[in-house]
This record gives sequence, structure tokens and C-alpha cells, in this order.
Amino acid sequence: MGNADSDVVFQSYGRCCNNEYFFVDFYDRFMGSSEEIRALFVNTDMAAQRHLLRNGIMQLVLHARGMPDTKLRALGCSHSRSGYNIRPEWYGLWLDALLATLQQYDPYFEDATAQAWRRALEPGIELIRGAY
Ligand code: HEM
Repeated sequence: MGNADSDVVFQSYGRCCNNEYFFVDFYDRFMGSSEEIRALFVNTDMAAQRHLLRNGIMQLVLHARGMPDTKLRALGCSHSRSGYNIRPEWYGLWLDALLATLQQYDPYFEDATAQAWRRALEPGIELIRGAY
């Protein structure tokens, strides 16, 4: 990810991630995309989960800037078939739900913002999905 992309992504995330409802709406949307996905979170403390995801997305963005991938490897492990068993095809729904929620909350969101987000997150998502 070039610095132009990372600036766009950091600024976009800054306009969204301090709003608790951003993560509420993300999970509503993500769980609404599949009954199987909703079932994975029936026993989850969603208030805690929203905070964990706030940090997880930051890890994905920092990975794109060359940060060590230790934390993403741990997520790859917890999400793998011997962990939460998160099927690889579900990551596309995750990214679609994230982009739709960013569009909803970021007043400056445009096509270029969406493209910058996709480019920034894809390598980190690939690392987690690839650990399946
Ligand atoms: C837990 C991030 C994709 C389902 C977590 C945690 C984080 C996280 C930070 C808590 C730490 C842990 O338990 O390891 C992410 C990121 C994703 C992603 C950054 C995108 C690359 C997904 C997808 C699904 C999913 C696609 C389901 C289809 C879960 C579940 C938990 C979890 C079920 C455990 C919830 C619980 O403790 O009850 N995720 N996740 N995640 N994630 Fe993800």
C-alpha cells in the first residue's frame, strides 16, 4: 500500500471508528448476510467483540504499512478450521459488510476510498484466510 492509500484509509477509519454504532451496524449487516454467520456469534459478548474488531481492523491497516504480522498470524490461528472454523468464502462477506458500513458512516467516502480500503486490507485478510 502506498502512502496515498494509507492516508486515505487512516483518515476514513478515523471518521468511523470512534462511533460505537459503526461496529453495531457492521455486525448487524455482517450477521444479516448469512444465518450460519449469525449462529457463530450467539454466545458472543458483542460489546467486547466490537472493541476487539476495532483493534483487529487497525492491525490489518498497520500490516499494509509493513508492521510485523504476529497479531494477524494469531488471528489466522484462532479463525482456522481447528479454531472458530471460519470458512474462506466468508471473508468476502466480511469485507463487503465493512465497505458498506464505511460508506454509511464516512461522509467523505467515494469510489477511490473504497478502492484504497480494498487494496490496503486484502494482504492482511489473505494472511488470516490462508491459515485456514
Ligand atoms: C473473533 C477479527 C473475520 C468470526 C475475532 C477477534 C478478532 C477478530 C480481533 C477476537 C480475537 C480472537 O478471538 O482471536 C477479525 C478480522 C477479520 C475477521 C480482522 C477479517 C479479516 C471473521 C469472519 C468471521 C469471524 C469472516 C465469520 C464468518 C469470528 C468469531 C470470533 C471472532 C466467531 C469469536 C467470537 C467469540 O469469542 O465468541 N475476530 N475477524 N471473523 N471472529 Fe473474527
